[in-house]
Amino acid sequence: MTSIWTEPDNTPVALLLLGRGTDPASERGVDCPGDLPAPSDPGLVERAKAAKEALGDRVFVLGHHYQRDEVIQFADVTGDSFKLAQQAAARPDAEFIVFCGVHFMAESADILTTPEQKVILPDLAAGCSMADMAVLGQVETAWEHFQDLGITDQIVPVTYMNSSADIKGFVGRNSGVVCTSSNAKRALDWSFEQGSKVFFLPDQHLGRNTAVLEMGFELDDCVLYDPHKPHGGLTDQQLRDAKMILWRGHCSVHGRFTLDSVREVRERVPGVNVLVHPECRHDVVRAADYVGSTEYIIKALDAAPAGSAWAVGTELNLVRRMALAHPDKEIMFLDRAVCYCSTMNRIDLPHLVWALEELVAGRVPNQITVDPTTAHEARVALDQMLALP
Ligand code: 13P
Ligand code: SF4
Repeated sequence: MTSIWTEPDNTPVALLLLGRGTDPASERGVDCPGDLPAPSDPGLVERAKAAKEALGDRVFVLGHHYQRDEVIQFADVTGDSFKLAQQAAARPDAEFIVFCGVHFMAESADILTTPEQKVILPDLAAGCSMADMAVLGQVETAWEHFQDLGITDQIVPVTYMNSSADIKGFVGRNSGVVCTSSNAKRALDWSFEQGSKVFFLPDQHLGRNTAVLEMGFELDDCVLYDPHKPHGGLTDQQLRDAKMILWRGHCSVHGRFTLDSVREVRERVPGVNVLVHPECRHDVVRAADYVGSTEYIIKALDAAPAGSAWAVGTELNLVRRMALAHPDKEIMFLDRAVCYCSTMNRIDLPHLVWALEELVAGRVPNQITVDPTTAHEARVALDQMLALP
């Protein structure tokens, strides 16, 4: 069987999702301090190759699975956020870590590398809307309320990797742990050995999906803490009874998949396997056949028999790459609408070339640094994750 990949249209919506024409004030900063090469420059691939060669072992390029093909071809290692954190920690000899991913990943890499190493994010506008949904002041307000209720002794804070360094610092100083989509169950198992409640930040869906679908909790064991409402919009009794206090955050990319997307593809493609990321909504994950991190998704598709059909609910660059790599399998996007992660897509070949050439010229562009106190506290929570059984 030959599957034919159809590129979604360049509609205004698609371009908006790709990050063009978005509101500059809503991002971490859209100005690139140097002269970016033109995207149309036919020599970009050669320039990237030459700059990487000139830097040799001094540079190590990490690429998240959601990165564009034009960038991923230059990654020394590709991976999900867990593997990339491990890889950053395992490269003490590389002077520069160029992180082709988003801001929170580069922060974690800075925390996990030595003080001499420099972590570079080729475009500072590559943030994450989910990470921005948990702000330290809001989280501290919630914690103070839990303290007033006298329940903090029972609570273990757990933050998804997709959070800022200061949220990881909060979790570290309160004896919690970081998790990723590939180890959330292990992190929760560990947490429930330390206490009887978890305060899960910032992705409500990963928290709920893991607790209910992998650990046997009831939906009623979970409550949703809305930082924009007094006391999270919850009564004292609800907070006392809850096993999982979920922060009201989500991924705007994975939030686009609906139960209707699953029903529609099952009707259209009989026998299709539905494979989704755990950042998807609970009803979508429940209706899917398989759920897992980006690394899991890749392994499942690599191992799938020829002729099988797969509808995949995760970011489009990855699904597209898998469809092209496996023409003998029918791999399609779970929803018909384009679904790039606009901030991941900020890192393009011109930004990568610019960052590498700056390094060759002896300048360090877009360095990501976390202040030492935050880094120390966040490292406690990251090390706890890396030590999970
Ligand atoms: P993983 O890489 O952990 O699967 O997470 C996906 C994601 O959304 C990264 O931002
Ligand atoms: Fe953030 Fe979602 Fe993009 Fe991942 S896919 S970086 S969680 S917005």
